Amino acid sequence: MPCLDADIVQHSNIDSARPHRLGACVWLTGLSGSGKSTTAQALHDLLSASGRYVTILDGDVVRSFLSTGLGFSRTDRDTNVRRIGFVAAEIVRHGGLVLCPVISPYRAARAEVRAMCAPGRFVEVFVDCPLAVCEQRDVKGLYAAARAGRIAHFTGIDDPYEPPLAPELTISTVKSTPDRSARTIIDFLAHRWLLDESKSHAVALDC
Ligand code: ADX
Repeated sequence: MPCLDADIVQHSNIDSARPHRLGACVWLTGLSGSGKSTTAQALHDLLSASGRYVTILDGDVVRSFLSTGLGFSRTDRDTNVRRIGFVAAEIVRHGGLVLCPVISPYRAARAEVRAMCAPGRFVEVFVDCPLAVCEQRDVKGLYAAARAGRIAHFTGIDDPYEPPLAPELTISTVKSTPDRSARTIIDFLAHRWLLDESKSHAVALDC
């Protein structure tokens, strides 16, 4: 019956539009001005265009809501990173995709956040850009302020940044465009079956 066929077609459309269920956290770590937010936005735009729901938890934005009042001591930074990690892990647990562009300068805090996510769901991306280039970009004028002594404990100037020792990916924002970097990350996610509905079920059953 034509009516039944139409129902079936409608069902399969609904099914194929269903959000994937695996969930992943793409954690972009790097210096201020390295290109974390720009890369995350490019990634968001590409993934959204392919019909996926994506959440961005940007350090700058989170600090005006979830982490309001926190400063830049090691304790405060670690608290900020843990809060973002907690929300990210919840999103991953429910099958969502979350992008976290956060300086997150300390390896130990990043390792804690990794441990909050199920194995294989945390993708650490080192957004690699030399300090000199970040400083030259100085989009927010913060490096100049730090050099002039108007901001204390600025990452890379008078506060440490510990680059990842074994990130899933390293992207160079000097050598690559935001779009190319975003595609590299998407390729990685696809390779790990983190974007594929049918394979997601296979991986989930394997766990
Ligand atoms: S983190 O260290 O706690 O991970 P987060 O990514 O949330 O940092 O916020 C970093 C942003 O805060 C920077 O992009 C910059 O705009 C601003 N900022 C203000 N003061 C500092 C500082 N002392 N060190 C680094 N970033 C700072």
